Amino acid sequence: MAEEIIISNHLTKEEKYKQLLPQIASLIEHEPDLIANLANCCAALHFTFNFWWTGFYLVKNNELVLGPFQGPIACTRIKKGKGVCGAAWENSKTLIVPDVNSFPGHISCSSESKSEIVVPFYDENQQVAAVLDIDSNQYSNFDQTDAKYLENICTLFRFRF
Ligand code: SME
Repeated sequence: MAEEIIISNHLTKEEKYKQLLPQIASLIEHEPDLIANLANCCAALHFTFNFWWTGFYLVKNNELVLGPFQGPIACTRIKKGKGVCGAAWENSKTLIVPDVNSFPGHISCSSESKSEIVVPFYDENQQVAAVLDIDSNQYSNFDQTDAKYLENICTLFRFRF
């Protein structure tokens, strides 16, 4: 496997995602272990975009349980429908939150977190198996470009849960 992720300087966000996606694909291609792959995936995203917090919550016994992440410590369990993660899971929908203070029931793991995107990851039966949660320390950091490319990353994992 590659030993580092290479992203050119001075690219737009979309160009960075375009460079990153095939690198994540090849990073996970020959490794069957889900946790190892999720761990490298969130590290690649986190350091490419300098996010505040980047990580996965995995569906286990009808709860979201903290999985691989980069950033400060975070809450370990989230119930269906609770917070942004639980809402994205319940509705099987990517959620973009420009200002976390305006999201009813937002679960604050860090006062630095200002905006957030949560993308459900599906298994081969189209059931939510995990969510990718990314926090920024800036307001309105996420848009449809993030949603599009993060959902593309989700499809790389579809048959791996
Ligand atoms: N803010 C999330 C909780 C997880 S932390 O941000 C890492 C939520 O409202 O679901």
